[in-house]
Amino acid sequence: MRTPIIAGNWKMNKTAVEAVAFAGAIRDDLNQIAGVDIVFCPPFIAIPGVAEAVQGSKIGVGAQNMYFAESGAFTGEIAPDMLTPFCQYVILGHSERRAYFGETDDGVNKKIKAALAHNIMPIVCVGESLTQNEAGETQSFVSGQVQAAFDGLTADQAAQCIIAYEPIWAIGTGKSATVEQAGGIIKTAVRDAIAASFGEGTAQKLRIQYGGSVKPHNIADYMSHPDIDGALVGGASLKPAFVELVKNAV
Ligand code: PGA
Repeated sequence: MRTPIIAGNWKMNKTAVEAVAFAGAIRDDLNQIAGVDIVFCPPFIAIPGVAEAVQGSKIGVGAQNMYFAESGAFTGEIAPDMLTPFCQYVILGHSERRAYFGETDDGVNKKIKAALAHNIMPIVCVGESLTQNEAGETQSFVSGQVQAAFDGLTADQAAQCIIAYEPIWAIGTGKSATVEQAGGIIKTAVRDAIAASFGEGTAQKLRIQYGGSVKPHNIADYMSHPDIDGALVGGASLKPAFVELVKNAV
């Protein structure tokens, strides 16, 4: 059985002070919810404070990005070793990073390998644009992204990753994919792509989240699909009602 995992992607929201206060305010309520892994992904500067605020609870901490090199002349970047004291997870290849900051499939692949080498669990984001969706390209595009991201990994490494399928047209728009749409693509374009590369056993171990306008009122529907193992949540993870969302997931 795959343990469901709900991760809050706070994106570029909350100062370090606000992030720590928010984490502290909801940690005890979240800590009581059994049967689900929970992760906060604050901006870099808030990570140490949030890690301290959730210490002793079941809540994990993730970064929203990471560079693959160990150290050196990479102005503005963060290395794996800088995250390991605080983070168990890292979001890689989010569509906003791909769209605004030049993130490529090759870069995502290198970052996944670096994260795994440092025992940080990657949350690998894939998903098609509205144009691709309307052109009927979702299946081939998403499975291509999965193959490129996981290129050169072993089956054991692949099984440690988490994939978030996030149709770009559903992120922050309030226009969520239907359960059938999301679950269908997660099965046929994501899990089957992993099965093709690494075998069915690995595909059954790996957790796949849905992301895109997940809210307290629709999370239970997504979780009812056998191939959806959780959610990557943006806007709804910034408010105290995130607790309701996680409760409704189990
Ligand atoms: P959203 O963001 O829940 O605000 O749509 C999801 C994401 O980008 O991870």
